[in-house]
Amino acid sequence: AAKSEGSSFATLPTISGAKASSTLTILYGSQTGNAKGVAKSLAEQATAQGLTVDLKSMGEFKPKSIKNLTHLLIVASTNGEGEAPDDAIALHEFLASKKAPKLENLQYSVLALGDTSYEFFCQTGKDFDEYLSKLGAKAITPRVDCDVDYEEAAAAWSKDIITKAKNILGESETSSNVVAMPTAGSVSEYTKQNPYSAELSISQKITGRDSAKDVRHIEIDLGESGLTYQPGDALGVWFENDETLVDELIVALGLSESENVSVANETLTLRDALVSALEITQTSVNFVTFWAELSKDEALLTLVQDKNLSREYAASHQIVDVVKSAPASVDAQNFVDALRKITPRLYSIASSQAEVEEEVHLTVGIVEYDKNGYTRSGGASSFLGKRLEEGGTVKVFVEHNDNFRLPTDGNTPVIMIGPGTGVAPFRAFLQEREAQNAEGENWLFFGDQTFTQDFLYQVEWQGYLKSGLLTRIDLAFSRDQAEKIYVQDRLKENAKAIFEWLERGAHLYVCGDMSRMAKDVEVALIEIIAEQGGKTTEQAELYLKELRNAKRYQKDVY
Ligand code: 2AM
Repeated sequence: AAKSEGSSFATLPTISGAKASSTLTILYGSQTGNAKGVAKSLAEQATAQGLTVDLKSMGEFKPKSIKNLTHLLIVASTNGEGEAPDDAIALHEFLASKKAPKLENLQYSVLALGDTSYEFFCQTGKDFDEYLSKLGAKAITPRVDCDVDYEEAAAAWSKDIITKAKNILGESETSSNVVAMPTAGSVSEYTKQNPYSAELSISQKITGRDSAKDVRHIEIDLGESGLTYQPGDALGVWFENDETLVDELIVALGLSESENVSVANETLTLRDALVSALEITQTSVNFVTFWAELSKDEALLTLVQDKNLSREYAASHQIVDVVKSAPASVDAQNFVDALRKITPRLYSIASSQAEVEEEVHLTVGIVEYDKNGYTRSGGASSFLGKRLEEGGTVKVFVEHNDNFRLPTDGNTPVIMIGPGTGVAPFRAFLQEREAQNAEGENWLFFGDQTFTQDFLYQVEWQGYLKSGLLTRIDLAFSRDQAEKIYVQDRLKENAKAIFEWLERGAHLYVCGDMSRMAKDVEVALIEIIAEQGGKTTEQAELYLKELRNAKRYQKDVY
């Protein structure tokens, strides 16, 4: 029988044969680290309140052992298209499968992180909630779904659930036995909420003059911050909005820039709030709805009836363009309340500290498009790549990503697929493998529009080919010939070798565009495995799934 811990039983529902435990298990499924951050902070608070906590990534949790749990908190994020994050896939599938056990002894709560600009908002969290409930588990509190500015809602859910958990579990009398918290990888005091003000040392355009794209190689000096990172990690970047865009917006609103508003309990001028506290380059469906109702504009009101159309509209219109499309008079505070709080952007790190020490390099694609005669730009990418000058300051933190790691054994071959700015982490990987004198083979697939304009880091790859660090590079320039050629076409051309590498134990990495590239690459991989391994599609899918479970197929896609 499970070890019983006195007082905690008093308020537990009595279920015969139940293995009761007073441990509060916290599982997170996290792609970029947000859910992990919330779960860690929840675990710290619960521990401080005397609860016995077991905090784990879902990737480190054996799905079958869920039947042993009695109190479970889930913090789960959702990938763009409604998929579970990589570390959550195994548990997610297990709970939906026939193998899932009855969970009548389980009490749980789910915090779902997501983005309302996607159709399958918070889908993974919704799935977990549904699966657990179907298996007979009881929700302690209703699930909470959060948008990208999740901090406040997550903090409120955490506070509430800890109070409830304390009532249910009772305070552990053995709080000295609390499970040790895993410590963060970095010893630095700098975090998302307390970022380091770093100097931008180099900002260089690395696409050609005639390229359709503007991609910058950026070097940031981490100085004395003590911040450390590993290849595969991301750099979190806080940014300020473009002052000219803020001016344009204030004029369009007909408001005074010096009027005071309150944002997250802080008083700021409207101008400062729009420059540094609120998102104005990304628009939520909620904002479009707010503006439609306020302006009573026929076209907008019709549009917001349709969820898909609203999402498309929000994705292609910045706040100022929504405002300009349908004039309305608005109170400054009401307007500010309808905007999301600014959130930092994550960039896959393009360097290894073994090579660049206290520097961190990024490969930043500047998002830009024309709208009604104005050039609209991405908030963080244009801040980093255009407004910030060399010598300027940028607030940063490191977001560790254990779901994108080189093999620990340097002899293991790696296949890296990274078209466009997706090549960034592979520059880090190669720098690391070089510094380690790793003997394993390295195969890079890169693609972009044209050879002459868009071959990012060409000189470096050529140097690595010469030195032998890079075993092979295969290139797919989509617009250098009449028909499109993509990285997945190059994969298929090399099907035999790809499969042979995989059979030899190669690790497979994909970085870059999620909605099209990573999907098409996955389809190609399944085709290759089926064809070369003499398998059915289902068997090939299983092969890839096993690679993923063994952490041999990892994705960093956005
Ligand atoms: P395209 O824009 O010419 O169609 C990096 O952005 C490269 O990814 C570009 O060459 C781009 O090609 C290509 N790309 C676009 N869609 C893709 C897809 N579904 N799969 C792979 N690559 C794609």
